[in-house]
Amino acid sequence: MKNTSNKAASDKLIFALDADNYKDAMSWVELLSGHVGMFKVGKELFTAVGPKIVESIKERGQRVFLDLKFHDIPNTVARASEAAVRLNVDMFNVHASGGSQMIKETVSAAWTCADKLGQVRPIILAVTVLTSLNNADLTEIGFQKDTKELVFHLAKVAYSAGASGVVASAQDIALLRTNFGDKFVIVTPGIRSASSTTNDDQKRTLSAYEAVKTGADYIVVGRPIRAAQEPLEACRQIIQEISNGLAAR
Ligand code: C5P
Repeated sequence: MKNTSNKAASDKLIFALDADNYKDAMSWVELLSGHVGMFKVGKELFTAVGPKIVESIKERGQRVFLDLKFHDIPNTVARASEAAVRLNVDMFNVHASGGSQMIKETVSAAWTCADKLGQVRPIILAVTVLTSLNNADLTEIGFQKDTKELVFHLAKVAYSAGASGVVASAQDIALLRTNFGDKFVIVTPGIRSASSTTNDDQKRTLSAYEAVKTGADYIVVGRPIRAAQEPLEACRQIIQEISNGLAAR
C-alpha cells in the first residue's frame, strides 16, 4: 500500500458547478475552495453567466475545467480554445467526433497561446460517446459500431491527434488505461458513493474508490456533494475514497 496525501486525493476531485446563476455558483465556490481540486463550469452556467464565472473562480486561486464540449470546424474550435486559454482555464474539452484535424489544430493553437502568455498548458480532453447514447441511438445517427467499440475508436483518434486525454465512463477506464498508457488523462463522471441510495439519471456509475483504483486521474462529482445534507462532509468522504483508491492501485 502506498501512502497518499490528502492533497493528492483532493486534487483529483472535480466539483460539477451545475448552477444557473452567479450567486449560487459562487456560494459553492466559497464553500468548497481548498476542498476540491477543480470546479467544472458547464454549458448551463457559462451560458447564463458568461466568462466572469471563470474569472471569479480563478481570482480565488482555484482551478477550472471548462466543460463546453467544442464541436465545429477546426478553425472555429481552435479560436474558441484560444479564448479559453486567455481565461486561463486548466482543462477544457472537445468532441472527438469533430475529427483529428479539429483536435490537432485545437491542441496546437491552445498550447501555443498558453506558451505565449507564460501560462501552464491546459489539459485538453476529448469526449468520445456521450453516456446518454445507447447502441440504438448510435444506429439512429448512422454509426455502425456499438458504444464500447466507438468509445475505443474515438479515444484512439483523440490520442493520435494529441489530446491530453478523454472523458470516460467508469466501464471504459480499464480498457483505455491499458491501451493508452499512464500519461493519457482519464476523467470520469457518474460517481456515486458505494453506500449511496440516490436514484437519479446516472446509469453507469462507480464509486470514487473503484474509479480511482481502476485508473481514473480525476473524478467529476456533482449531486452527491450538492444534494448532501452536509456537503463538506460528503466531500471529505469522497476524498477519503479517492485516497484509498490511490493506495490500492
Ligand atoms: O450530479 P452528477 O455527479 O451526476 O454530475 C455529473 C456532472 O458530470 C454533470 O455536470 C454532467 O453534465 C457531467 N457529465 C456526466 N456524464 C458525462 C459527461 C459529463 O454526468 N458522460
